[in-house]
Formats: sequence, C-alpha cells, structure tokens
Amino acid sequence: MSKSENLWGGRFTEKPHEVFTEFNDSFRFDRRLFTADIRGSIAHALGLERARIITREEADAIVGGLTQLAADAALHSDYFEGSAAEDVHSFIEAKLVEAIGDTGRKLHTGRSRNDQVATAFRLWLREEVDEIDALARDLQAALVDIAEGFHEAVIPGYTHLQRAQPVLFAHWCLAYFAMLRRDRERLADVRRRINILPLGSAALAGTSFEIDRAAIAAELGFDSVSANSLDAVSDRDFAIEFVGAAGLLMAHLSRLAEDMIIYCTSEFGFLKLGDNVSSGSSLMPQKKNPDALELIRGKAARVFGHHAALLALIKGLPLAYNKDMQEDKEAVFDTVDTVKITLRVAAIVVENTIVDEERGREAATSGYLNATELADHLVRSGMPFRTAHEAVGRLVLLGLKENRELNELSLDEMRSVVPELDESVFEKLTLERTLASKSAAGGTSPARVAEALAAAREYLNG
Ligand code: ARG
Repeated sequence: MSKSENLWGGRFTEKPHEVFTEFNDSFRFDRRLFTADIRGSIAHALGLERARIITREEADAIVGGLTQLAADAALHSDYFEGSAAEDVHSFIEAKLVEAIGDTGRKLHTGRSRNDQVATAFRLWLREEVDEIDALARDLQAALVDIAEGFHEAVIPGYTHLQRAQPVLFAHWCLAYFAMLRRDRERLADVRRRINILPLGSAALAGTSFEIDRAAIAAELGFDSVSANSLDAVSDRDFAIEFVGAAGLLMAHLSRLAEDMIIYCTSEFGFLKLGDNVSSGSSLMPQKKNPDALELIRGKAARVFGHHAALLALIKGLPLAYNKDMQEDKEAVFDTVDTVKITLRVAAIVVENTIVDEERGREAATSGYLNATELADHLVRSGMPFRTAHEAVGRLVLLGLKENRELNELSLDEMRSVVPELDESVFEKLTLERTLASKSAAGGTSPARVAEALAAAREYLNG
C-alpha cells in the first residue's frame, strides 16, 4: 500500500506496537465477511457514481476490480493467507488499490468502516439466517417422516419424568415440530430487523455526500435504510436477537436430544439409534453411546454463552461506534456454525432412529397410565372430579398392593372400592380408548394427530 501500512498513516509518526497489532487485528476471523463486504462496496461505488462523486469510468474500474477480487478469492484457497491486513475492510481496499491503482483510493469516499462493517455483517447474517431456516425445515421434515413411519406407535407421556398418560409417538414428534416452527418464525422476525441498510451513516454523523441510500438498499436487497446514523453504526441488536433466537432453538434441540437419550436407554428402550450416529466405549465392549445427542445437548451451552457475552459487550457502551464492537463477530460466527451443524446432525439422528413399538406399548400400558381415564369415566357418569380422583387413587393403591394394573382388577374388587362401577369400565380402560378420548384440539387422539400430521405436511410443502 502506498505511504502507510494501515488506513490512518497521516496523523501518526510511530508504528503500532506489534503486540497491539496482534490484539487489534480482526482479519483472521472477519475475513468471513469478505464476499458480503465486496457486495456492499460494489453497491457503494455505484451509489458514488449515481451521485456523480466518481465518474462512470472510475466506477467501472472499481466494480471490475472488486468483482475480480471476489473471483480470485473463490479460485485460490490461500488467498487470505499471509496478509498483514488489520481487518477484512482494509484487506479489500488494499487489494483493490493493488489491482486498479489510485482510483481504488476513491472507494472509501463518504463511507466509514463503521457503516461498512455494519452493512457487511447484516448482509452476511441475512444469508446465514436463510440457511439456518432451511436446515430447521429439514429437521421438521425428518420429524414428520419418522412420525408418519411409526404413526401407530405409542409411548408413555411424562411429567416429572414419571409415567403420566399414553401419547402417540407422532404426537411427541409434532411437539418438537411445533417448537421449530416458532423458532423459524422468530428467525423470520429477526431477519426483518437485520434487513435494514446502515451504509450512508458514515462514521457516526451521516455522510455529507448526496448519496441515494434507498437506491443502495434496493441494490443490496435491504427493505429500508436506517433512520439514525448514530444508532445505525452502534446498533448490534440484530446480531444479539439473532443469537437469542438461536439460543432458544438450541434449547429446543437440547430437549429433543435429552428425550431421545432417555428413550434409548435400556431402562426405557422406546428408541433405537443408528450405529452411524452412536459411539462405542474404549473399554466396555457392550456399550453404544448416544454421543451425537449428547453433543447436541451440550452445544446449546455455547450459544447461550454467546448471547450473554454479546449483551455484556454492548452494555454501557457510549454512542456511537467503539472498538469493543469488533468482539461481536466471533460470537455470532460461532453461533451460526454451531446452530447449522447441530441442526444437520439432529436431522440425521432422527432419520436414523427407529421406534421399538412393543416396548413403547408395554410402557404405556403399565404404571396406571389409564387412571385419569377412569376418573374421567366416573365424572361422565355424574361424579364430581375431586371425588372421582380420590376414588381412583384408592383403586391405584389396591392395584399397587396386588401388583396389578387397574384393568387387571376384577369388577368385584373395583366395586369394593368404587361401587358405582359396572362392567363397561373395562372397555374404557384400554389403551385405544385412553388415546382416542384425547380428542379436543391439540390432543393426542389418533384422529387429531392424523390431522396435525397432514397440516404439518402442508406447512412443509407450502
Ligand atoms: N474491524 C472493525 C470491527 O469489526 C471495523 C470497524 C472499525 N472502525 C473503527 N472506527 N475502528 O468493528
């Protein structure tokens, strides 16, 4: 580069200390914004031309040069190696000047790295959000696939991790489907606030050149331009709320993982994981460990940490830009990487899982999971719910003493505790009946779940 090695040679007489340089430089990680920054720079050059700040020829040279840089970077895997650039923005500018000469030095007119970095970051994140959305959709599709593949399977539903009431396995799958649906909605909502153009805010006060910001926004696919230059260069809400939404998504994946980890133990045994997503033990030959699921559960922690770090980062920062904000990148990059690989692995695990329908049914029919059904039956014949609850409680006590399920007690035994009962009770206590009765909207009756599955398919195809 001519004159000075960094972007502010004029005012300085001393070179930066090498340790400070190492501390200050962000190129080793923010090079990920390269393509986005090139796009932003091209749009800026065209904006300068439209405002007649640079000539058509100069704009052509700059746009041609920037396009060439992008092509070179795509072609050469070592393109970024060995550069002493401070950050991706100075890297691109230096490369441009190297390629097209002094005209390249006009690109930064009316722009600061402050609005530049905010623009590149938003462009980059917008695309990543779209990719994450597609991966979340893939996981939803995997859940619907397995739900349909085992649409008759039944498992116990739990509260307090104690068997509670039977549910269809498909109903369990659709619970996670519903969480992912909200996650996608949250991402779409965040995306709207990402998609606002900061460029044209310059360092903090706005630019003094007559740049048509709306035209640049349109060029880059932004929905609108930021309304306040101070805010635009110091706002990282979009990144923080993205990481927040990603955190919730990861929390959901973590819960999915935990359920599956439990369900594939020999104690539960409702699910069998594919060997291709499990690990063995270096010592115990019989072991098959759900490492993929445990990592899904564990990865959530990183993203929560990034969220906390970002909030702490901006808390108390004075307006407008402060170098602290450079610390936002790695947290967001790692969040994106973590969420993407975790979603992919989760889909693969679900695709490679089978349900042990016999074990599920066995578990769903032992442990008095039909007790509520019996209480509801008594209520339907006129008994107040509290009374019914207590009566069935006494029957359960009898069953526990006898080591028999409710439906294994004789009618006489039942009537000795609850005289109101008659022969029709046995039909009410079957698994089929217990499931079918949960027929209000959102319940686990086979009819409702079939509808919910069809709706899920339609959502995925829509
Ligand atoms: N590398 C910087 C960042 O990521 C770019 C903006 C630098 N601006 C400045 N005024 N030093 O935040």
